[in-house]
Amino acid sequence: MAGVFQLEGKVAVVTGAASGIGKAIATTYAAAGAKVVCADLDAEGAQRVAKEVADGGGTALSHGVDVSDADQVTALVARAVEEFGALDIMCNNAGILIRRPVLDITPEEFQKVLAVNLHGVFYGCQAAARAMKRGGVIINMASAIIDRPSTERASYAASKGGVQQLTRAFAVELGGLGIRVAGIAPGWVVSGITQQDYVREDGALDEARFTDRVNDRASTSPLNRIVDAQEIAHAALYLASDAGAALTGQILRVNGGTVLV
Ligand SMILES: NC(=O)c1ccc[n+]([C@@H]2O[C@H](COP(=O)([O-])OP(=O)(O)OC[C@H]3O[C@@H](n4cnc5c(N)ncnc54)[C@H](O)[C@@H]3O)[C@@H](O)[C@H]2O)c1
Repeated sequence: MAGVFQLEGKVAVVTGAASGIGKAIATTYAAAGAKVVCADLDAEGAQRVAKEVADGGGTALSHGVDVSDADQVTALVARAVEEFGALDIMCNNAGILIRRPVLDITPEEFQKVLAVNLHGVFYGCQAAARAMKRGGVIINMASAIIDRPSTERASYAASKGGVQQLTRAFAVELGGLGIRVAGIAPGWVVSGITQQDYVREDGALDEARFTDRVNDRASTSPLNRIVDAQEIAHAALYLASDAGAALTGQILRVNGGTVLV
């Protein structure tokens, strides 16, 4: 891998690392040479990903965490420092989606989505920045929804808009400490979250709905394609590495051109 994209000697924490985009980021960081803490509410899933990294010759450990709990996020960062000696890269990727028409969203559902997607990112930014004694990079996962609302996703849209603003706010305050803070706004990716679009209630894949959904999403792209998790991970590698050294406060739109801002 080209020198500026190397992460040798770096320590990274990735939340939501058991699945989808987080898994791709964790394995990509490890392949670039970082020691990686794979963190997830799904502790067993995180363990499987850490083992996959280790089996491939990389260095990783797993850690169960609920990012909506500030103390657990602090403990996660402390574990990374304790086990690997420092923290250089924090990827606040964990997220959830509860699809619901705006008039049906309950206060509990709204609070739940904000707690994971927005409060979780806030706790992750704070805990990481406090631990980044030699500078570092914080990467927050937003969504294409920050630029283009879609139906049944109001709580998700509110949370991701907040992630964009937190990213900017932390970037302007932490730059002087040698900490960059940036975000990624992915387009539609096949993952755990998007399964709601094409998996039946019994968990079986609805192939017709899957094909319709993929074609529908692809049709909004000038490239006539959807994005995959590995392509988001490549953007996360760019941001985390020296290749992205001049970038802070920005949200990278990795969406196949579906939203142009
Ligand atoms: N898939 C997409 O189309 C898409 C598009 C834009 C943004 N995103 C964002 O990408 C991120 C990753 O999502 P994904 O698509 O890989 O979905 P995913 O469901 O495959 O992965 C999300 C992971 O987060 C974990 N998680 C959920 N709640 C948690 C909590 N409270 N604490 C710790 N971990 C928790 C889940 O266990 C899961 O492993 C999310 O922030 C999501 O909003 C996804």
